[in-house]
Parts: sequence; C-alpha cells; structure tokens
Amino acid sequence: MAVSMLFVCLGNICRSPLAEATFRAEAERLGLEVEVDSAGTGDWHVGRAPDPRAQAVAARNGVDIAHLRARQVKAGDFQRFDYIVALDENNLRDLERMKPAAAKAKLSLLLDHVPGRAGSAVADPYYGGEEEFDLAWADVNAGARALAEHIADEAGL
Ligand code: 4NP
Repeated sequence: MAVSMLFVCLGNICRSPLAEATFRAEAERLGLEVEVDSAGTGDWHVGRAPDPRAQAVAARNGVDIAHLRARQVKAGDFQRFDYIVALDENNLRDLERMKPAAAKAKLSLLLDHVPGRAGSAVADPYYGGEEEFDLAWADVNAGARALAEHIADEAGL
C-alpha cells in the first residue's frame, strides 16, 4: 500500500514544493509507492506556482516544479496522510496546534530524519537570495533522501 506524505512550510511556494519534488524523486529511485503533496500553514499564496527562485534552484538541479500550485493545510489532511513533515519548528508548532484528537498522521520535522540534525530547521529562504535557496535545496535534499530511506526500511525494501 502506498505511504502518503505531506510536506508543510509557511507559504507552500519555496521549501515544501522542493521537498515534495525531491521526496517524489527519491521514492521513485528506491521503488517506493508513495502519495506526495505539500501545503502551507498560511494562505497568502494559495493557487500560485512556486516562487521563481525555488523553480530556478530546482531547475539548476534537474527538477521541474513549475506545475505545482500552493494550497493551505486543512483539518482533513491529518486523516488523509500517514506522515506530515514540517520544514521548520514554527510550521511544526502550528501543525501541532491544528492537529485533531483523532489524527492518523505522524508529525515530524524534516531534518529530524537526518542523523546529527534532529531539531534543525530548513531555514526560510524567502527574504534571502540565490545562496539561501541553494542552502534550502541542499537541506531539503538531505531530508528527503533520509526520509525516503527510512520509509523504505520500514517497508522492508
Ligand atoms: P515557504 O517560504 O514557507 O518556504 O514557502 C515563504 C513564502 C512566503 C512567505 C514566507 C515564507 N511570505 O511571508 O509570504
């Protein structure tokens, strides 16, 4: 059965679309059957394509995220997804506050899955430049790879 994952940041236009795309690629590489989506805790950018700088860093690394569209997290997500993965501690705190009592989803921070980086945030690159987007890409990649490997281990692959 497919494992379902939702990646969550603030705007759903920078970090979580990168996480969605890189996790999908890693899962494919490992032969994992997954359902992957991303969302934001905020609603400012709902319906928009990823930030051009996020699209650019993804394209520099051979990944196309232009088709993704931002949406906001909703209560039903906590029943629909097996895992909801926050990009930073503010996103995690907001998710914990929203989480219904009967939620199915397990909440975690993306970098919790990377040895030695538990509790670390993928820094918000929105007010930064190309360097901050490159850093976000590297962090998201490390997290997505470690998380996909963890899910594959659990599935006995
Ligand atoms: P994201 O980045 O949470 O990685 O998508 C941001 C996008 C928009 C804003 C902040 C962060 N904003 O303030 O509009």
